[in-house]
Parts: sequence; structure tokens; C-alpha cells
Amino acid sequence: MCPPHTSCTQPQPQPPARTLTPTLPRNHPSTPHLANLNEYHDLYQESLRDPDHFWRAMATSALHWDQPFHTTRHGSLEAGDHAWFLGGRLNASYNCVDRHALATPDKPALLYEPDTPATSQARPQQITYAELLREVCRLAWVLRDLGVRKGEIVTVYMPNIPEAVVAMLACARIGAVHSVVFAGFSAPALRGRLQDARSRVILTVDEGVRGGKTVAMKRVVEDAVGGLRYGGEEADVQCKCLVVRKTGSPVPWCQQTQDAWWHEECARWPGYSAPEAMGAEDPLFLLYTSGSTGKPKGLLHATAGYLLGCAVSGKYVLDLHPADTMFCAGDVGWITGHSYSVYTPLVLGLATVLFDGTPSFPTCARYWEILARTRATHFYTAPTALRLIKKGNGNAYAAAAVHNLERLRVVASIGEPLAANVWQWCHDTLDGQVHVLDTYFQTETGCHAFAPLAGVTPTKPGYVALPFLGFNPVLLDPVSGAEIRESGTEGLLAFDQPWPSIARTVWGDHARYMQTYFAQHKGYFTTGDAAFRDRNGYFKVLGRVDDVVNVSGHRLSTGEIESALLSHGAFAEVAVVGTEDALTGQALVVFACLKNDLEDQKTKSQLRQSAQQHIAKWIGRFAVPRKVFLVDDLPKTRSGKIMRRILRKILEGEENEFGDLSTVNIPFP
Ligand code: PRX
Repeated sequence: MCPPHTSCTQPQPQPPARTLTPTLPRNHPSTPHLANLNEYHDLYQESLRDPDHFWRAMATSALHWDQPFHTTRHGSLEAGDHAWFLGGRLNASYNCVDRHALATPDKPALLYEPDTPATSQARPQQITYAELLREVCRLAWVLRDLGVRKGEIVTVYMPNIPEAVVAMLACARIGAVHSVVFAGFSAPALRGRLQDARSRVILTVDEGVRGGKTVAMKRVVEDAVGGLRYGGEEADVQCKCLVVRKTGSPVPWCQQTQDAWWHEECARWPGYSAPEAMGAEDPLFLLYTSGSTGKPKGLLHATAGYLLGCAVSGKYVLDLHPADTMFCAGDVGWITGHSYSVYTPLVLGLATVLFDGTPSFPTCARYWEILARTRATHFYTAPTALRLIKKGNGNAYAAAAVHNLERLRVVASIGEPLAANVWQWCHDTLDGQVHVLDTYFQTETGCHAFAPLAGVTPTKPGYVALPFLGFNPVLLDPVSGAEIRESGTEGLLAFDQPWPSIARTVWGDHARYMQTYFAQHKGYFTTGDAAFRDRNGYFKVLGRVDDVVNVSGHRLSTGEIESALLSHGAFAEVAVVGTEDALTGQALVVFACLKNDLEDQKTKSQLRQSAQQHIAKWIGRFAVPRKVFLVDDLPKTRSGKIMRRILRKILEGEENEFGDLSTVNIPFP
């Protein structure tokens, strides 16, 4: 087996590496939490053999409980009633803020890097744990004053700014459930999410700034709530909207919201408010993610299990220590931001860097500059960002910056496979001094399900290595559903035991939760991904087997885009598929049949353009398809189902495999 941080391309002999001593990066503050791979194997086996004992010990040591739990684990995947730490009471904001504010009040909790870069000498804007506690408590008072009660869903539509973190923690403090909606979503997409959550309080900013451009976020909120009505109610909803003044541009107060300025409201309240002792299973947040159908699903996470997943994965996968600083470039609007920008660093009492810009503005040196200025030890990003930096002369910038990155020791990637050449580039660019990890998780898993442990697990580029504690992966035969036990094979990736941070339900639709994850293969949680297991038990994730497409790390449902396109009016039928893209991982391609009578009214190029604009308007600019093909017909099965597989093959230039494709008019722009 290769030593850590080297590239393996040959099949590895049995047994897998259990005995290699990993090398420490130059600036490790002490020693990794686990000494070697043997310790991982022992801990991992224990987590599967005796989950009750294992997780009881982990939960007791990692979290502060207001009341201890009496039952560690309850229920099963088959019944979909899995629950953890019953009887226990705790508060997530106490765990993430108060206990650190008491122990180390002056320690930085948040370091903020705005879109517009500061001069290289300038210190980043810092918020200490004591200050964070005050901000969270003030907002908690404001939320209570706005009438928010325990269990109510508060929508947070904000960029990656400190106030977004304060918002999440203030909700947690009073037992409200936060629903952070990615700032790139358009008004109709935000509206759909508000409607599904029946949310009445929205926290936002006057304008966001990204890549040097402003985005009128309050205006989007205004458009989203116009004429908003919740099922069963007679009148339009009167939302309350709290607005952070970020750019200071004039913001018209809206008809259908009771608007107030965040800073004015917060200034009226004291800097302490007691946290609510929440039940372990009480929801902490819901986060909308894409599924196979057009309707996004709000996955609900439970307080204790989720927090524990963050604490334990941060400790063992990322090897986080108290003096570390985490820069996770993931957006708070997605699970990576929730787990590794917010909850993991804060539950462990570390500093976390928030950045609301882009990797290439003003140049591809941006991430390296932030890492240098914040003296971060950990950098978490998506392969698409690394590819962008690599392409944009990032290694020259990195070479210039590398002497300033002396504290950096872990670079982790998430969201799609980290190709071997990008892994190698990252490793070489950083002088071989960092652990480069390809990690895998999902909104559903809450925390890492696979990852090499930094400093412990030998890495194999292209592979997400070994399962994390508590995850027992199986590969299932897609037809028979039987477990595939041989190595060197691929199958549907599933897990056969519940783990603490598994999402508990789809908000308002438990039947959909059961149907999506548990119904097809009884007794398993199915991930929706296919995976390959090599002879050493190393896993490689091969991609989605459903209609989900991953564009620049954004998980998109082709069904949601198709529904949006059908509302355009010009198209009788549409099919959206993903195709490979060198920069964004996957890109969206639309095949659309025109309604006959509309064909002559506009040129085809106008129609293609207006289809793209329509997606920007209905979902967001990040979901705009790369290409729109106007076709006469779409390939279908006898029962009328569109054969997207064939469309994908057409895009890959493999039409010949399918013989007669006369039903599809292969399109040309
Ligand atoms: O397809 C897998 C892909 O991202 C999906 C999860 O998307 P989401 O819930 O938005 O969370 C993204 C960030 C956690 C997975 O089902 N994925 C995630 N990590 C990897 C990956 N695919 C391949 N390799 C990975 N390391």
C-alpha cells in the first residue's frame, strides 16, 4: 500500500494498509487524534459492533447536556423511526457558543472576508466567542419579539456573512428551526421553499456582493412574498422580514412584509438570553435539496445526532485541534456550509472563516490570500473550485503564497470526485506539506460518510477511502437488490445501520422520505449514488443513479428544471440531462420540443436564449443550462417515459450503441 499522500494507481495487495506510520505535516500542533490506521480500524469496528456503547461515549464527551439521555439508540432503517439519545436535553447554540465564550471569551470564533479584498496587511474582521454570544442572544430576543416560537421555521436568505451564522444559532437558541435558502436562488425558488415550510419570518440582507457584483437580495424576498398564500388560509401571508444593512443601498420596505433593520432591532435587547433546553430529537434545521422529482425536499436534521456527527467527523476526519482555524469555502446555503463552516468548527470551539466572494475574484489567488491572511490550518472546498484555480494560473499564485501558508495542513474536497490530476496538483502546489482528502457526504448523511482521516489513512486519488465511524456501506445489485460482497465491483451505495446524523424526515412528507431512501431496498438507506469498492475496501463514488445532476458542487434536480421550463409556455415537452464538463464537473443540457403553433413566432436562437433566461428567473443563475437543443421528438419507452439515458449517450457521442434513433431528431444549434 502506498504511504499517505502518494498516488496509487495499481491494485493494492491484501491486507490493506494497517501498519504504515503516516508522516506529520510540518506544523502539526500535537499529534493526530488517532495514532495510526489500526486505531481507526478498532474504533470503526467498535462503532458497528456496539453502536450503543460507542455513541454513548462519544455523545457524552463531545456535547454538553442539560439533561443526560437514557436511551442511546432507538428504531430501525426499515421502519424509518430511527432516533438517538432519547431523554436527553441540550441546546445547539450553548454547545457552539456559550461553553467556549465561558472558557475562552477572547478567542476568535468568526473571521470574515468580504467579497472586496482587503489589503494584504489588513487583519480579517474578527468576532470573538464572547461577541458571538452577545450577537446570538440579541437576535434570539428579537426573534422571540417577532413572535417566533419553538418548532417554528425561520427562513434565512443570506450570503456567507457572520450574520447568517448568528441567525442560525439564534434560531437554535430559542428552539426555532432554521431553513437557510442558498443566496443564488431566485424569487420563485425562494417562494416555493417559504411555502413548503410555511415560514413567516425571513432574515436577509439589503444586497449581497459577489464577484464584484451586487445582488438585490431584499428585492428578491419582496418578489418571493408578493401574494404569498399558505394552503388553508384565506388571506395573503404577512411575513416579517429582518434586514441586515450590508451595502447601505436604499431598500424599499415592502407591502407584504413587516420590515425592520437587523441592527436597530438587535440594539434594543440585552446581550444575554438563556438557551432553551431542547429534546435530543427536536429539529435543528431543515435544508432543501434536490431529489428526482420537481419538488425540492426539506430534509430535517435532529439536534443532538447532527451536532455529534459534526463534532466527531471534525475531530477524526479533519483532525481538528483547539488552535486550528477552518476555512470552508462552501456556502451556508448548502450542507457543506452548515456542517463544516458553522457547526463543526463552532461545536469544537475553533475559529471559522466566512467568505462571501468567489474563488476567482479579483484573481485566482483569492483563496490562497485568504488562507494566508487568516492563517488557516484547514481548507475545505469543491473540486470545481480547485479546477478553476488550477486553470486560472492558481499554481503560480500558490507558489507565491505557499510561504505564507505555513499553518495549512489539511485540504479537503467535497461534492464530486477529486480527480487524480487535481489531487496531485494540489499536493505538489503545496509542497507536499498538506493532507489532501477527498471526502464524501450528502445533505442526508449530515456529516462525512467516507473520508481518509487526515494524517492516518493512506490516500488514493479518485477514492474517498474508507467509511467513517458508524457507517456500514454495502453495494447493492440494482436489479436483485442483493448485497454484492466481492471486491473490485460496483453497485448501488447504501448503508445498513442508522447513524446519529442521518436526516430524520422530509419536512411535511414522511412518506416521501420513506419512499426515496428506504422503500426500494428494505433495511437499507440508499444514497442515490453508485460506487466501486477495490480489493482493499477503498471506495470510489461513481455518480448519481437518479435524476440529480451536480453542477459546480450544486445539487440540482433535472425534474425541477424541467417543471420550470414547462411553465415557459413555448415547450410541449422537455428533458434535462447532465453531461460532463471539465470545469463544473457536470453541466445541464436541455432537449425541448416546441409547441407547434409557437415555432414560427420566434427564431430558434431567441427561444433557446429565453429558455435559459427562464431558468435563471425561476431557479437561479447557477442552474442555467449550458445548451438548449430544440428537437422534434424525444426518445420514449413504450409506456411513454422519456429515455434520458439515451439523451446522455447522444451527448457522449455514443449513439451507435443504440442502433435506430429515428425517434429522436438529433438537434443542432
Ligand atoms: O453524488 C454525491 C456527490 O454529492 C451528492 C450529495 O450532494 P449534496 O447533498 O448537495 O451534498 C454535497 C456536499 C456534501 C452525493 O450524493 N458527492 C459528494 N461528495 C462526493 C460526491 N461524489 C463523488 N465524490 C465525492 N467526494
